[in-house]
Amino acid sequence: MTVIGQIGQTMDGRIATITGQSKYINGSSGLSHLHQLRALVDAVVIGVGTALTDNPQLNVRLVSGKNPTRVVIDPQGRLGCDAQVWREDGTKRLWIIAEGKKVSAPSGVEVLTLPMVDGRIEAATILKSLRMQGLKRILIEGGAFTLSHFMQAGCLDRLHIIIAPIIMGSGRPSFELPAIEHMDQATRLNIQTHVLNNEVLFDCDLSSQRLKLD
Ligand SMILES: NC(=O)c1ccc[n+]([C@@H]2O[C@H](COP(=O)([O-])OP(=O)(O)OC[C@H]3O[C@@H](n4cnc5c(N)ncnc54)[C@H](OP(=O)(O)O)[C@@H]3O)[C@@H](O)[C@H]2O)c1
Repeated sequence: MTVIGQIGQTMDGRIATITGQSKYINGSSGLSHLHQLRALVDAVVIGVGTALTDNPQLNVRLVSGKNPTRVVIDPQGRLGCDAQVWREDGTKRLWIIAEGKKVSAPSGVEVLTLPMVDGRIEAATILKSLRMQGLKRILIEGGAFTLSHFMQAGCLDRLHIIIAPIIMGSGRPSFELPAIEHMDQATRLNIQTHVLNNEVLFDCDLSSQRLKLD
């Protein structure tokens, strides 16, 4: 199973304004790269925060390719049935909720009920459940909470960070990780860089810290 995370951020490490607006931090090359990634994976995963704030379509539009399965992690079942991710377009759609919760899903949307541990559905549990659905190449598309949880759990093989030439000066940070006191506790990444017009893609290899799934 291969899991890639992607985030588009400003030079000062923001993925959205304080009101949550993120459309669009990246320019056309960064967005095309995102759509290329969607076209290469079996499933694209977002947290309910992103689904509620951005109401994304999560399909492949800017390049040619097949739409991936759309997955929303929504333990409390907060997402409405009219969300764009649930629209019927022949693509598989999965709604991940917590054990003990119930949702009335739109037609064709499959509900996966998974256990919570310490207030989270563990990233490894989510990946195993997607693997059982036959989904092996997974894109974690945000937001910060979701991506940070997968990274902290050792559940990303690669991370694509696309940095746009923007300074926001305020707003939501790209990652939410436990506080550290010393620089040697920070995660240092093996990277390759690619220039995408006026943006820079950092392709980070996280395979050395990847958790093996049973
Ligand atoms: N620039 C970019 O590339 C980019 C990409 C995506 C999103 N964004 C921006 O990011 C913001 C949203 O990010 P966010 O961090 O607030 O939200 P998020 O990561 O999209 O969603 C977080 C919520 O999803 C649920 N969740 C996700 N993973 C979970 C897990 N493993 N276990 C249990 N619950 C889980 C929780 O829901 P409950 O709260 O119901 O428990 C959690 O609060 C928006 O402003 C959006 O525009 C930017």
